[in-house]
Amino acid sequence: MFLITGATGGLGRRIVRLLREQEMPVRAFVRLMSRYAELEHRGAEIFIGDLQQEKDIKKACQGIQYMIGAHGSDGNAAALDYRANIELIDRAKDIGVKHFVFISVLGADRGYENAPTFKAKREVEKYLQASGLNYTILRPSGFSSNLLPLAEQFRQTGIYLLVGDPKNRTSIISTDDLARIAVNSVSTPAARNQILPVGGPDILKREDIPHIFGRIFNREPIVINPPLLLFDAVRGAFGLFNPNTGKSLGTLRTLLANEFFCTTHEIANVESIFNLKLESLESFLRRYLGV
Ligand SMILES: NC(=O)c1ccc[n+]([C@@H]2O[C@H](COP(=O)([O-])OP(=O)(O)OC[C@H]3O[C@@H](n4cnc5c(N)ncnc54)[C@H](OP(=O)(O)O)[C@@H]3O)[C@@H](O)[C@H]2O)c1
Repeated sequence: MFLITGATGGLGRRIVRLLREQEMPVRAFVRLMSRYAELEHRGAEIFIGDLQQEKDIKKACQGIQYMIGAHGSDGNAAALDYRANIELIDRAKDIGVKHFVFISVLGADRGYENAPTFKAKREVEKYLQASGLNYTILRPSGFSSNLLPLAEQFRQTGIYLLVGDPKNRTSIISTDDLARIAVNSVSTPAARNQILPVGGPDILKREDIPHIFGRIFNREPIVINPPLLLFDAVRGAFGLFNPNTGKSLGTLRTLLANEFFCTTHEIANVESIFNLKLESLESFLRRYLGV
């Protein structure tokens, strides 16, 4: 039995689909108000709970052999990116889980002080490494599926909003490839007890993305490129009214202000470990958008 947290998320639902295609038993940890009908339809066991509740985590872990942690933080990194993962690792230890796959983030080890999610993920990585469990820690760059709604907007308007430096590099990972890598991590000896940066096959500049959209929809992109200072002003204003929102926007600011790409060596390493050819962003978008 696999337990998947974040099973209704962009990555988690793809992980559940893959496991069910292989007819593996899957328990999907979901919240009551989230959209889990598809997962149930595919034959996943639905566990309704809240990752902020220790008792729910304890119950969800009963009888599992494999754990894939793919939940997000809902703006509360301390409770979800940190505390819930620590609790999941402790329970996994108690019941002798065979392999724990943790979805971290590219750059978790760079010491970004003002990015709560990055800090929490790094602490969880260290805790998992010291736990004695078999693990694979995946550090992905941005997910291609995040761009689908932006591409749909672009299809309508031709407009692309690019905040910050357009020259910053990124290597966006196909969310389908990442799901496959997460699932195969438990059965791939070379992935055991590894921390793996995971990105797409191409190192892109952020300004390449509207041009990819333009090619796909045969439309000249109109790029609106406000400076990061504008984001800082908005964040500052939010922070005045709600310090927690201001803090959690720190993770977004870190993402906007820095480069997140894998080296060609890291990409080749992932392709070789998992014996796959990573999909380009353009191919992913064309497949989903039907163009
Ligand atoms: N997206 C990226 O570009 C990116 C890049 C690097 C790393 N990551 C990491 O990859 C993982 C998956 O990201 P994603 O983009 O697929 O996430 P996502 O689409 O934002 O989904 C987050 C998931 O977490 C669940 N969740 C949030 N709070 C919960 C709670 N209190 N109890 C139970 N479930 C809760 C959500 O459930 P609901 O459906 O109920 O909201 C949802 O299923 C995350 O750990 C993220 O940090 C993401």
